[in-house]
Amino acid sequence: MHSKKGSILKRWHSLTASPKRFQKKWAGTYHAPESPGVYQVRCSDCRSFDSVKQRCSIGFGTPLRKCVVSSIEAHFNDCRDRHVLEIGFGRFMLARNLIRRSGGTWTGVEPKADRSIAPRIGAGCYGTASEIPFPDETFDLVFGVQSIEHWGQKVHGGTPSDYEDCLREIHRVLRPGGSVYFDAPVYFHGHEMFVMGDLPRIQQQFSPSLWENVAIEKWREDYEPLEKYPPSETVLQGDWPAEIESYSDAQVATARDNASVYLIAITAFKKAG
Ligand SMILES: C[S@@+](CC[C@H](N)C(=O)[O-])C[C@H]1O[C@@H](n2cnc3c(N)ncnc32)[C@H](O)[C@@H]1O
Repeated sequence: MHSKKGSILKRWHSLTASPKRFQKKWAGTYHAPESPGVYQVRCSDCRSFDSVKQRCSIGFGTPLRKCVVSSIEAHFNDCRDRHVLEIGFGRFMLARNLIRRSGGTWTGVEPKADRSIAPRIGAGCYGTASEIPFPDETFDLVFGVQSIEHWGQKVHGGTPSDYEDCLREIHRVLRPGGSVYFDAPVYFHGHEMFVMGDLPRIQQQFSPSLWENVAIEKWREDYEPLEKYPPSETVLQGDWPAEIESYSDAQVATARDNASVYLIAITAFKKAG
């Protein structure tokens, strides 16, 4: 929803976002295990689902953005005393607001930011996932909202970042015991492994020599009783043919004809030693 009402509701939600309220809303286990390291957040069981009105209680955004909002509420409601780095921060403020309001420090890097601004803890500056302008072991948590799927993307004429380089660079700036959170759409846009929902390949990017406890939450894969959310014609005609090269025509056709876009939230911990 890109209506005026939608933008006002989005701003209002972000301005009034309360860590305490979200701690209460998302306390305990809010997902169900599906397979080792993979968890489901079904719409019917989601704490953002309004069972009386049979709709999502997040009143703005596309079905995907509603899941992004819910996942951020669940993951960023307690950042007390933590130094947190956002990769590809764009203009979405919810996580930043929650981190600051719950007692953490937000810092961001963004390839579209002004390169003349000096990197500083507590502010946004130029940087990419493979080039982070901060010393080793600076952050407790590194995260990206709808960003990781673009790092390796070929479309728009950019040089794709190598996921191995990006995750090694992120590992470098994390303190021992630090963790990551990256959410991304599936069956939508970005690198082909996200477009095709290739979860094993996504998990493999997190080398066991650097990362442990890699987990993926799937939000809205099981969308009933809410509506299906098929990929848009724009991405089907733009990103899909430009990005997909390692999957067969039959696999792509099956995804195109049956898929409903959903969100994954990937978390992992820096391996000790
Ligand atoms: C779809 S936007 C999301 C922006 C914002 N996080 C949000 O949720 O609205 C993708 C973001 O990832 C950033 N991005 C793309 N490639 C990147 C890379 N290699 N390293 C860091 N950020 C990148 C883009 O500049 C952009 O801000």
